[in-house]
Amino acid sequence: MKVVVVGIGAVGREMVRCLWQSSLPLDEEPLVLARTAREVTIDGRTIQVREAKTEEFKGADIVFFAGTEGEKGAAKQFARIAIEQGAIVIDNGSDFRMVEGVPLVVPEVNPDDLEVLNSSGTVLLPGVGEVPRRYVANPNCSTIQMVVAIKPIHDVAKVKRVIASTYQAVSGAGSAAVEELEIQAHRILHGQEPGEFKIHPLQIAFNVLAGANWKFEEVGYTNEEWKIIRETRKIMHEPNLPITVTCVRVPVFNAHAEAIYLELEKPLVAEEAREILRNAKGIVVMDEPMQLTDGSPYRTYPTPIDASGRDPVYVGRIRNDPFNPNGLWLWVVADNLRKGAALNAVQIAEEIVRRKIVKV
Ligand SMILES: NC(=O)c1ccc[n+]([C@@H]2O[C@H](COP(=O)([O-])OP(=O)(O)OC[C@H]3O[C@@H](n4cnc5c(N)ncnc54)[C@H](OP(=O)(O)O)[C@@H]3O)[C@@H](O)[C@H]2O)c1
Repeated sequence: MKVVVVGIGAVGREMVRCLWQSSLPLDEEPLVLARTAREVTIDGRTIQVREAKTEEFKGADIVFFAGTEGEKGAAKQFARIAIEQGAIVIDNGSDFRMVEGVPLVVPEVNPDDLEVLNSSGTVLLPGVGEVPRRYVANPNCSTIQMVVAIKPIHDVAKVKRVIASTYQAVSGAGSAAVEELEIQAHRILHGQEPGEFKIHPLQIAFNVLAGANWKFEEVGYTNEEWKIIRETRKIMHEPNLPITVTCVRVPVFNAHAEAIYLELEKPLVAEEAREILRNAKGIVVMDEPMQLTDGSPYRTYPTPIDASGRDPVYVGRIRNDPFNPNGLWLWVVADNLRKGAALNAVQIAEEIVRRKIVKV
């Protein structure tokens, strides 16, 4: 297979790592494209990044987009070219996730949605036009870890309502946001002013921002919050599921955490929920009883440090609502660049190959 990655920022670098580790039958190194050609070193290996141009997509079987969104973004500029040259596109960006007919896929949750790629016909991508049905959208990072955790519970006790808060790392806003946190923290620790705010509109170092992004939309919710609501409904095939969420940016470099409250159709005791999640694909439960050195009871739970650089979605703090037997809390942590983006995209590609949608 020939595989192309467009974009070599926070997600693109992780895409290359995930491809090196994947079971995909690659003929050669992934071809990496960006706005400017240069050399990039990942884990000690230097790769040649080429400028994204039409001719680079020739012969590609799968093209992963990890570029920025919008009019000048990689997917709007190159999706048609890649598809018309015969490739399947898997896009990390949000441009077309909610378009009718576009599969929005988390392999542990809705892999069968990929079957639409086997059907003839076209799909209308706004700003791009009608293209053959060879485009798959990768969901938002916070959505992916949420649906991986709640789907196994939904299958047993039906989720009637979701109330969640996210604690999102700066890498979720791209490589420039990581640099901004580094610079601000360094300056403040050296007695200086935090400096210019470029990516986050307020100081992020040693602070908490109650808007993981700052594009406020309908009824006071941010664009990130609406993405989680709409995408979760689409992936779970529950178009009316009530979901309300507050997205928060925290001064953590990598891996997002979420406190998720589920209201279920029927009671589900925490121990049963733990067992369901222990047996679910892609999940590691970290919720074991322990004792502190003074003998007081304690339970393990995952942190962003545990999840960063790793593949699973970690779940802990699984407990019932003391005032509602149908209420259940989960604490869900995952690497937003891996399972929240690059790894999920590569798993989609692996599923596409397994289903022989791309023949190798
Ligand atoms: N960060 C996350 O946790 C996360 C999670 C899920 C989804 N996503 C999505 O994944 C995408 C990438 O995010 P990121 O965080 O990696 O962003 P990033 O760090 O800002 O990197 C963006 C990359 O895209 C390239 N690029 C932008 N426009 C391009 C164009 N027209 N043609 C070719 N290359 C182009 C840039 O090229 P240059 O290097 O040459 O400038 C850069 O390498 C975004 O759509 C984002 O919303 C991110």
